Amino acid sequence: MLKEKLQKAIEVINRNDRGGFTIPTNKLYPHQWNWDSAFTALGISTYNKTRAWQELILLINAQWTNGMIPHIVFHENNPNYFPGPNHWQIKANSKTSCHSQPPVLASVILEMVKDGDDYDLKKSQSLFNSLIAYHEWFFSARDPNNEGFLSIIHPWESGRDNCPDWDLGLQKVNIPEDFEEYLRCDTSHVEVSQRPTNEDYDKFMSIVQYGKNCNWDPMNMYNHGPFLAIDPGINFIFLKANKDLLSLAKLLNYKNKIHKIEDWIKKLENGCQKFWNDKVKAFTAFDVRTNQFCDAITNASMLCLYAGAGTDKQKKYTIEHCKRILDDCVYGMPSLDPKHESFESKRYWRGPVWLIMNYMILIGLENEKEYLLAKRIKDDTIRLTDVGGMFEYFDPLTGKGLGGKNFSWTAAIFLKLYRENYDFQLFNN
Ligand code: DGY
Repeated sequence: MLKEKLQKAIEVINRNDRGGFTIPTNKLYPHQWNWDSAFTALGISTYNKTRAWQELILLINAQWTNGMIPHIVFHENNPNYFPGPNHWQIKANSKTSCHSQPPVLASVILEMVKDGDDYDLKKSQSLFNSLIAYHEWFFSARDPNNEGFLSIIHPWESGRDNCPDWDLGLQKVNIPEDFEEYLRCDTSHVEVSQRPTNEDYDKFMSIVQYGKNCNWDPMNMYNHGPFLAIDPGINFIFLKANKDLLSLAKLLNYKNKIHKIEDWIKKLENGCQKFWNDKVKAFTAFDVRTNQFCDAITNASMLCLYAGAGTDKQKKYTIEHCKRILDDCVYGMPSLDPKHESFESKRYWRGPVWLIMNYMILIGLENEKEYLLAKRIKDDTIRLTDVGGMFEYFDPLTGKGLGGKNFSWTAAIFLKLYRENYDFQLFNN
């Protein structure tokens, strides 16, 4: 049974292979996405290393000269997706979107090296400088005042597009007078009730229009852009990525990089105190434009354990939230605390379970020796793919698969978690 599911997971990824890069799913997301591709490479690396590295190389090839690795790479035009390349830039030279996404790349690469051999170490060596440049870009563009935390300039940069974390900030985003008319494509592929609202999209596109008009100048976006928020997700993922980059530098014997990365880590470890929300006793999002905390406890709040960040007391509170929230649903970890007034079990990042988040939370819980909780998440992860299939996300109350079907990163996480149970020579053809 498990063996058939592993085979099925490989088939899902193969079907989404577009020759060197993997789309998340047909029609809904027909391009290469940053963190999707990184997690997908992790899954592919369990059965085809060469192809896994190729996935990462194609993504990193799209890196801008300033170091930014974009959230979408448009390898070809595709009318099924909006907003395509022409909506992002006045002169769409680079054929990419113009902001980034959670930087899981260094962590994925370290994981592939740890599970691999000399071949993998060599590959990581060829990508190391690009990773450094990517992290440097995050510091200069998203923390220009050197405060030790990153702020995102668009909800899409968080990867958790419509979670309640951004409600405060999006309320303040004005629709410009010369707002460009647009037509969404996503709701012709997925039920409207499972996607962000039209109101969200108007705000998303207003920010894109602002960015396009200022040529996505990082200082303009940071200081004057319509939206600026501190995301616990991206901050904890970045901290973990820096710790993993440090391990990689040590493995590669890059002594001259070690101090610099150690300083980055120290800075981020201190900086995360900025978004400890003592009112709800959790790390939560903070809207910079209105200077207010968001009160939602989300699956991103749990990532402090993944990053090994926060004081012992803060970690303890987080573990308590984790327990309580798992008790409140049938399948964990929901993207939003079910007790929160904005919880919607089927709507994208306002309730559903996402396996990539489960994977990172699992690592965090194991780091904290919370093995029972970790096991619960791991068991839920397998139950969800039994009940719901290889979907994009899942209803935490019923397990129903939601959003895009035959989804690459869901298949990839499944492979990553369970591949050790079988000899993968069986599947590797
Ligand atoms: C989408 O199109 O829904 C994506 O999440 C934006 O990156």
